[in-house]
Amino acid sequence: MANSISSMKVKIRHSEETDLEAILTIHKKAFGRDAESNLVKEILVAGQKDKELSLIAYKESAPDELDVPEVLLGHILLSRVRLTDSKSEKVLALAPLAVLPEAQNSGIGSALVSASINQANELGYAAIIALGDGDYYGRFGFEVSSIFGIYPPFEVARQNFRIKTLATFDKTLKGTVIYPETFNSV
Ligand SMILES: CC(C)(COP(=O)(O)OP(=O)(O)OC[C@H]1O[C@@H](n2cnc3c(N)ncnc32)[C@H](O)[C@@H]1OP(=O)(O)O)[C@@H](O)C(=O)NCCC(=O)NCCS
Repeated sequence: MANSISSMKVKIRHSEETDLEAILTIHKKAFGRDAESNLVKEILVAGQKDKELSLIAYKESAPDELDVPEVLLGHILLSRVRLTDSKSEKVLALAPLAVLPEAQNSGIGSALVSASINQANELGYAAIIALGDGDYYGRFGFEVSSIFGIYPPFEVARQNFRIKTLATFDKTLKGTVIYPETFNSV
């Protein structure tokens, strides 16, 4: 088991341009389709370039595997969004999040969500929106967004549209979320 995913030490860092192909492969394999990887490509190549909003989980290779210094296992992307009733530019959307199928259920997704929350807090962002399984995101303190007067721009169960409020959050942040144009393709 020396080389099993669960026994290896997984680290997290900002992604670099050279990680792009591995990141796209992670999304394709995790979601079993191209939509999310196409979105990630569009955001990272043509759109938002802040590398601190794109985090990867990786493991360093063993000394006898030095031709591949590290193996990428998971990726999370945060994008800036707007709210209809606020001028704030301090709200992020978490999407997408993916872990290679063979590396799932070993805490990598959780580590990426926690790291992205810390990163957003450090950068002074006020909140992170997450669309997805409410029980999963609830583990990290994401609350149902409608409680705060913040709504999705599409039909979704309220339980599955959540917000993590951060240190600079204030109650004037309200309205319907406006995603960047690139998200319309998913
Ligand atoms: C969702 C995902 C990122 C989780 O990553 P992971 O590294 O497997 O997650 P962790 O090991 O940190 O956590 C595992 C726990 O989350 C739960 N979980 C995993 N995927 C889940 C999902 N889609 N919905 C709800 N719970 C989920 C597991 O059942 C497990 O529960 P347990 O701790 O009670 O056993 C990963 O399964 C994945 O890439 N899935 C395909 C893509 C996807 O659905 N992305 C999320 C988009 S919102």
